[in-house]
Amino acid sequence: AVIPLADRFGRVATDLRVSLTDRCNLRCTYCMPEEGLAWLPREQQLTDDEVIRLIRVSVERLGIQEVRFTGGEPLLRRGLTSIVQAAARLEPRPTLMLTTNGIGLERLAGPLREAGLDRVNVSLDTLDPERFKALTRRDRLSDVLRGLAAAASAGLTPVKINTVLMRGINDDEAPALLRFALEHGYQLRFIEQMPLDAQHQWDRHTMVTADEILADLAPFSLQPDSVSRGTAPAETWLVPGHVDAAGEPARVGVIGSVTRPFCGDCDRTRLTADGQVRNCLFATEESDLRKLLRDGAGDDELAEAWRVAMSGKRAGHGIDDPAFLQPARPMSAIGG
Ligand code: GTP
Ligand code: 5AD
Ligand code: SF4
Repeated sequence: AVIPLADRFGRVATDLRVSLTDRCNLRCTYCMPEEGLAWLPREQQLTDDEVIRLIRVSVERLGIQEVRFTGGEPLLRRGLTSIVQAAARLEPRPTLMLTTNGIGLERLAGPLREAGLDRVNVSLDTLDPERFKALTRRDRLSDVLRGLAAAASAGLTPVKINTVLMRGINDDEAPALLRFALEHGYQLRFIEQMPLDAQHQWDRHTMVTADEILADLAPFSLQPDSVSRGTAPAETWLVPGHVDAAGEPARVGVIGSVTRPFCGDCDRTRLTADGQVRNCLFATEESDLRKLLRDGAGDDELAEAWRVAMSGKRAGHGIDDPAFLQPARPMSAIGG
């Protein structure tokens, strides 16, 4: 029987984000340093079977309906396709999604689709190869563009693009990125930068805000969307005169986590690559399911520990609180 993941503010988590690795093959300047980070030792990382078991428990006992695979870079996880395949066999079958930087997607889009993946979100902050190289410290823009195209032709749709705008770096590119997305039928979402970088350099004043992004998009005469946001982080607008790859009206999104927080509608729970449950992106405490699992806990015990972890979820991220402290783990180890 399902006993859902409820917190004391009446929110129920039905969306699980699973980080499959903390490693990445890019080094985005706003995420991690050139030399990378101290990666999780192999033995601390959940095995494929352990990941699959926890996803099964979440679906069968906790009512999880959507599972999103994240990283680091999830395409670096060898067992990804078999993890997706196992998740697709669960009853009731969860919707399966992936957030990736797109490198390697050209080769993996087809196999992932066959394994049961439903759709992908791809990170892309610039269309200029030199800028891409400066921003990610790797010369791989063309890999990402081919990955996007492969995802669309494999039917991993709607393909969404995530863009973080940074002042003085790529904040002049919003219209060009939107034109690119419209042309290819991808759904673009602009994201406000959050204080989750490994270097702790986030600064409210350099963050490009949702209001600024919408002002940049004024030439597109965006219209309010008929579909409400629900529990999704992105607020969407219709782009008149354009349709997406499926012939639906084209949309553009803004994820205003900082200036337009959506914590009141949050339906998320997170599992890190080393088997810790996080009840919020900004949680300062984690619950160790890996230890329980490796000590031989049964499904009921794992499910109950997960419920207890979620019951302590705070009302919101608290970024505006003067006493706000960044979580100890950076975005790349949490999975965004
Ligand atoms: P869709 O189902 O396609 O809307 O996916 P998504 O936007 O929820 O997921 P994605 O992994 O593409 O994340 C896009 C951005 O939203 C990233 O910057 C995430 O860190 C951010 N994000 C995802 N979930 C949360 C959340 O619960 N809280 C906050 N503040 N940001 C989130
Ligand atoms: N704030 C907001 N978004 C971020 N991302 C990475 N770091 C941050 C941050 N500090 C984005 C990535 C990717 C998505 C999962 O999160 O660019 O698109
Ligand atoms: Fe949910 Fe925490 Fe994200 Fe707010 S910051 S939406 S509470 S995960």
